[in-house]
Amino acid sequence: MSTQSPAANTASIPRLHKARREGRKITMVTAYDATFARIIDSAGVDAILVGDSLGNVIQGHGTTLPVTLDHMIYHCQAVMRGVQSAHVVGDLPFMTYHASQDDALRNAGRLMAEGGVHAVKLEGGRHLAPLIERMTYAGIPVMGHLGLTPQSVHQLGGFRVQGRSDADATRLLDDARALQDAGAYALVLEMVPADLAARVTEALEIPTIGIGAGPHTSGQVLVCYDLLGLNEGFKPRFLKRYATLADTIRAAVQDYDREVKAGAFPDPEHSF
Ligand code: KIV
Repeated sequence: MSTQSPAANTASIPRLHKARREGRKITMVTAYDATFARIIDSAGVDAILVGDSLGNVIQGHGTTLPVTLDHMIYHCQAVMRGVQSAHVVGDLPFMTYHASQDDALRNAGRLMAEGGVHAVKLEGGRHLAPLIERMTYAGIPVMGHLGLTPQSVHQLGGFRVQGRSDADATRLLDDARALQDAGAYALVLEMVPADLAARVTEALEIPTIGIGAGPHTSGQVLVCYDLLGLNEGFKPRFLKRYATLADTIRAAVQDYDREVKAGAFPDPEHSF
């Protein structure tokens, strides 16, 4: 019998690699709190990402840049309390892995030791390879993130598709190989043309997880608020909504508002 709690989940990366080898698609969904994490985990997804997209959907910012390491640790801790079986990745936020490698290692270590996640994700190409090597050496599994890297949105000139020109596509392919060679165990590809995502996936042994990257990646990731129809103003082409929860919530709150104002709630059944 295992002596570890299910949430320790130490075999979750080998499971992702097995899925990649066997050609089974990998699913990843973001979560930021224990309640959503519990529901999403019980739905059977392979992985949960505590994304710095919480800057947008939780904190209401226009970018992920204001998210701090302490914010991430807080949300990772909450998510881990809700998860039994999924692999959980935490984003290293803006400027927590750039000032120096020592800083980056300490910050990634905090996200794992205090946040409790199984791995960290960071955005960027081959210039991060030496850092990823050091993190991997230290026992910190690293998921890469290429294509549209939201922490560089000002440098990229907006939230737009990346890798459209031959030169950009070649650079992205080389970056992907460099991250894999440095020890990254998986790679998010965001907002890249489907044929480029297919080429990257074919060139790598590690799984690629796409968002706005077409159907040929090893898996897919979506932000839970987008997938569930909670983020009403956000309608990029790549997004498919699997529910319209904003409508459901609004209707429920309107019912409550109406019943309280009419004196219909609480009724004897809901009173002591
Ligand atoms: O922060 C996030 O949610 C992400 C996904 C969109 C991949 O990085």
